[in-house]
Amino acid sequence: MNKKVKSAGIIGIGSSVPEKTLTNKDLEKMVDTSDEWILKRTGISERRILEKEEPASTLAIKAAKNALRSSGIDASEIDLIIVTTDTPDYLTPATACMVQGAIGAVKAAAFDLNAACSGIVYGMTVAEQFIKNGYYKYILVVACEGLTKVVDWEDRNTCVLFGDGAGAFMMGPVEDGYGMLSSEIGADGSSCKLITVPCCAITEDDLQKRAHENKRVLWMNGKEVFKFAVTIMPEATMRVMEKAKLKLEDIKLIIPHQANKRIIEGAIKRLQISKEKVYTCVQRYGNISSASIPVALDEIVKACKIKKGDNIVLVGFGGGLTWAATIVKWSMNG
Ligand code: UT7
Repeated sequence: MNKKVKSAGIIGIGSSVPEKTLTNKDLEKMVDTSDEWILKRTGISERRILEKEEPASTLAIKAAKNALRSSGIDASEIDLIIVTTDTPDYLTPATACMVQGAIGAVKAAAFDLNAACSGIVYGMTVAEQFIKNGYYKYILVVACEGLTKVVDWEDRNTCVLFGDGAGAFMMGPVEDGYGMLSSEIGADGSSCKLITVPCCAITEDDLQKRAHENKRVLWMNGKEVFKFAVTIMPEATMRVMEKAKLKLEDIKLIIPHQANKRIIEGAIKRLQISKEKVYTCVQRYGNISSASIPVALDEIVKACKIKKGDNIVLVGFGGGLTWAATIVKWSMNG
């Protein structure tokens, strides 16, 4: 057991996306869609996709190594690895165990956490508790998704939306008053059937919703999820600001889950903030579920768009239904 600490935060960051790009024009050749429809309804131009034989865990391992390098921590010092994913390569082993073995984090415990697109903030919130109470010092939280593995490539309602990628945060104790200032994680299981990917059990309802021969593909009621998203993101953002006693003017940047540009614009309208304060990269990656926030934040850090002391909001929503938000006072230099 280590000493209790007051503040936990991100001390290293990394990401990894596949080389291969799938553009809207490519999709025009696969389903009855158009570049114009996809751009107008979602803001997405292209997404990165894994090769058929390439497992998503390869991205998790690369992102983990990048975060490790960025933190300056040795792999042998990591106490716990949490991988957030709704598209693991295996039900067992956990992707977290695959990462642990690949990076040589010999003393780390490891488990996967599934809160769909909200997963990364769920993972951070779990890590924060362990670090603050002194149980663990260094925790690697990796968000890893291979959504194109579970997409029905004949369903234009969903196949144009998703991509693959991974992002990772090394978390540990930070200077008092920095790091995670407040957070909220939530779920509404009464709406659990709005986004489904069947695995070990397939019900009659699941069969009926899927025209594809392979029934283990993603199905979504996009309209209902859209309504949920535009309401919950601003609400959760306001609540974490209240908890941290901050106002919108104290926030440097909001990094929302990147699912659809129109959802982000809806949230901007409800929050009544300038769009310059909200980061968008959905045009280049599509929806990469729990990896979307860390991939976006890694881009922001590399582009030097935030500095030590800036308050940023990370806010997500997704299958479950789930949502999660946190305010981070950035503690890294450069
Ligand atoms: O991270 C997980 C959370 N998931 C989400 O955030 C998704 C939230 N939902 C959405 O982003 C939007 O609801 C979608 C992008 C999925 C759909 O946009 P929409 O504006 O709600 O479209 P819609 O489903 O109401 O469809 C409008 C029309 C329909 O045709 P009709 O019935 O009006 O003739 C669809 O069949 O657009 C048609 N359509 C398409 N047309 C061309 C649906 N998909 C496509 C497509 N290309 N890919």
